[in-house]
Amino acid sequence: MSETVNDVSKGAIDPAALFTFSYGLYIVGTAWEGRLNAQVADAVMQLTAQPVCVAVSINKANYTTELLEKSKKFSVCVFGSDVPMPFIGNFGFHTGRDYDKFAKCSYRVSDMGLPIVTEYSLAAVEAEVIEIVDIYTHKLFIGEARTARILAQGIPLTYADYHNLKKGKSPAGAPSSVFNELPK
Ligand SMILES: Cc1cc2nc3c(=O)[nH]c(=O)nc-3n(C[C@H](O)[C@H](O)[C@H](O)COP(=O)(O)O)c2cc1C
Repeated sequence: MSETVNDVSKGAIDPAALFTFSYGLYIVGTAWEGRLNAQVADAVMQLTAQPVCVAVSINKANYTTELLEKSKKFSVCVFGSDVPMPFIGNFGFHTGRDYDKFAKCSYRVSDMGLPIVTEYSLAAVEAEVIEIVDIYTHKLFIGEARTARILAQGIPLTYADYHNLKKGKSPAGAPSSVFNELPK
């Protein structure tokens, strides 16, 4: 892919305009040869209904990407709005390369062999990867859903509430990291 020309620092892109997009906050998990990993992502969406396809945009440097390219399957768990910040930080500010994120939470391994976080999760979707698209810093994993289940009743956490109410930040690798610079 060619060098990006629409750099935020050049002024043509106002991050505040992008922040009007609505996002949820999710844990994207995968597993390969007995190694489980999961990370926080807001760049998650449903793409189609028949069949149900979903996409996750994951930074190339992430351990999740490394495992996901091999396993070609992923889970998506939806954070409820009552999730504490340290719980988000456990999955969003550590890499699974040298840290066991699952030591600090309740989870189960599904029939598809994928991690399903059972604390502060309202729903879980599992998908098999049908396409991987290279997008500069990230890879877009498009998956066809195999299961989708409600785990608990509650209000889904939006990325806007994470930012505005919980005063949360995004690490440099997240697509939404430009929002860190917006005034509170
Ligand atoms: C609020 C929030 C949103 C995030 N969104 C994304 C995202 O959409 N895509 C992504 O690749 N990383 C995102 N991240 C960053 C990853 O969760 C983070 O880099 C994680 O440590 C990667 O872990 P890993 O190396 O174990 O895969 C986000 C983090 C936070 C806290």
